[in-house]
Amino acid sequence: MFEALKPQPADKILALMQAYREDPRDTKVDLGVGVYKDASGHTPIMRAVKAAEKQLWEVETTKSYTGLAGDPGYADVMIDLILGDAVPRSTVAAAATPGGTGACRQGFDLIKMANPKARVFVSNPTWPNHLSILKHMNMEMVPYRYFDDETRGVDCDGMMADLANVQAGDVVLLHGCCHNPTGANLNLSEWKLVVEHLNKTGAVPMIDIAYQGFGDGLEEDAQGVRLVAGNCPEVLIAASCSKNFGIYRERAGLLMAVCSDPDRGALNQQTLNFLNRQNYSFPPDHGARLVTMVLNDPALRADWATELEEVRLSMLGLREQLASELQRLSGSDRFGFIAQHRGMFSRLGASPDQVEAMRRDSAIYMVGDSRLNIAGLNASTVPILAEAIIKAGV
Ligand code: LMR
Repeated sequence: MFEALKPQPADKILALMQAYREDPRDTKVDLGVGVYKDASGHTPIMRAVKAAEKQLWEVETTKSYTGLAGDPGYADVMIDLILGDAVPRSTVAAAATPGGTGACRQGFDLIKMANPKARVFVSNPTWPNHLSILKHMNMEMVPYRYFDDETRGVDCDGMMADLANVQAGDVVLLHGCCHNPTGANLNLSEWKLVVEHLNKTGAVPMIDIAYQGFGDGLEEDAQGVRLVAGNCPEVLIAASCSKNFGIYRERAGLLMAVCSDPDRGALNQQTLNFLNRQNYSFPPDHGARLVTMVLNDPALRADWATELEEVRLSMLGLREQLASELQRLSGSDRFGFIAQHRGMFSRLGASPDQVEAMRRDSAIYMVGDSRLNIAGLNASTVPILAEAIIKAGV
């Protein structure tokens, strides 16, 4: 049987992570996988998470199963964090998932169950794993224009023109904030256009929010999601705690289905429970429990928010340093977009050859589409990157 298996395409981001590990040069700079690193290149455990972990060790008395949708307290705190008071809690069905990837996968599964013919409209570009999972599930994908290669901002006119083709029963996948891989984000008036259009067509929005707090702040980054949830009749939201709680390997995510009809809401909850049972039974609990403890304890929550804000500001500082270094070296403002982008990533707009040249000549690792992880830099590697960018002719 096994001889029938075919090699699957390597995930570009994970392959790059491996290539970086194997590079013996000690000047190498990792701007690949979306993991936050401090100035010394370390991915720290956040203070509040560590404190909660210590408390948990003292108070946890059992490792028996939780519910199929995970601990309800986790859903409550996450729904509050992401949706605030945009919708009543009773309108949200939710299930804990293994990370944000698990939430996306379960969301796509739910779409397929509800409408096997649904087309999923995806931004061009989007996180490559969205495409890979949808392809694996044999779901139809339709790309919509998103990124303007000239301005390196959002091509809102192109996006709306392409979304003119959505129909009732289709799904439009959106990034809640800190668009991955471009770093270019919708402003509130653009979100409003999208909401109006979705409501006109009857297409359902699905929002992937994996970087809340990394862009303009915890509340600011949730504005788009809240607008959609408060104004569209049905919404799917896939959330991740990997980045903003720094608990990557714990796999804490949440899938939400928002719908104000109580009968459909109950059916949504039952479907989410069913999907968890089919795919992995009970979702992982440890990371979710830490998040719940941090968000429910005012002191831990305040400390977490402070540390998250430090992380956000450090990335903004690096963006500004890189943009001004590039301005100095190029004698032009053409790299100003780096300071305008938000979140962990920016798409530089370099060709695959230029990306390869930077890897070969300067040991700089960024994804082949020229996505760079700003958090992989520090004050002393910014000038090295800036020089490599100019040298590669970007
Ligand atoms: C990324 O885009 O680098 C992160 O979301 C990590 C991943 O799983 O790809």
